[in-house]
Amino acid sequence: MIAATSTSKLTTAARSSAVRALSTSSASLKAGGAAPTSAAKERIKYFKVYRYDPEHNQAPYLSTFPVDLNECGPMVLDALIKIKNEQDPTLTFRRSCREGICGSCAMNIDGSNTLACLSYIDQDSPNKASKIYPLPHMYVVKDLVPDMANFYEQYRSIEPWLQSDQPKEDGKEHLQTIEDRAKLDGMYECILCACCSTSCPSYWWNADKYLGPAVLMQAYRWIQDSRDSKTKERLNDLDDAFKLYRCHTIMNCTKVCPKHLNPGKAIAQIKKKLAH
Ligand code: SF4
Ligand code: SF4
Ligand code: FES
Repeated sequence: MIAATSTSKLTTAARSSAVRALSTSSASLKAGGAAPTSAAKERIKYFKVYRYDPEHNQAPYLSTFPVDLNECGPMVLDALIKIKNEQDPTLTFRRSCREGICGSCAMNIDGSNTLACLSYIDQDSPNKASKIYPLPHMYVVKDLVPDMANFYEQYRSIEPWLQSDQPKEDGKEHLQTIEDRAKLDGMYECILCACCSTSCPSYWWNADKYLGPAVLMQAYRWIQDSRDSKTKERLNDLDDAFKLYRCHTIMNCTKVCPKHLNPGKAIAQIKKKLAH
């Protein structure tokens, strides 16, 4: 679990690297022959970033990094990459696609779980520092990297693959009608970023037993698949006070999904199917 954080002060290393980064930026402007830019023209925004390194015997803390928005891309992920490149190479976070496809840059930005690559830097209030934490209520591997082992184990537990008792002998794909295929819309797009599950209070308190919205929506994705023969077994497996019924329809999950999906609705549909 995330331990309490308190300090907002610059660490010595961060402070000196921040100073170094700022002087490097003015030096390079001068070297380029451009007219010296006054400090007032820089648009400095501060990012307060959660830090934790299990190899150091130190409680988690916040590092503050200044970033000149004139020299940074528009997304929070751009700022993190710039900080890592220019100020602190030890800053650790996951990212890959930088376009909302891989789900790896999920983190808590200014109080909301989202993808750093799809999250615009708040340019309107550059004087207000942005606070960046790992996804809440997860064990932290390092800095902004949460331990996803339990989440992936839960995903594995729903057997997220096609199980058909009518195997295709010709090796061709299983066909389905356009209408049946449409039933998977709004679910197959899930990138398993875990923003929804880690914003769900029920998941915070019972992550060991409650499957959470992301995994439950994937379970429903296979229940709804006309090509799958294990619908009954899949439903029976979810009929459990903890796995499914810990959802109390708070709907935080649907509110935060960066792909605009509706896991809360999928959970309601599973409950409805079980009730009939
Ligand atoms: S509807 Fe509420 S309780 Fe259910 S999964 Fe979503 S956030 Fe959690
Ligand atoms: S439903 Fe949305 S928030 Fe949840 S894991 Fe899938 S993409 Fe992420
Ligand atoms: S880097 Fe892939 S979703 Fe953000």
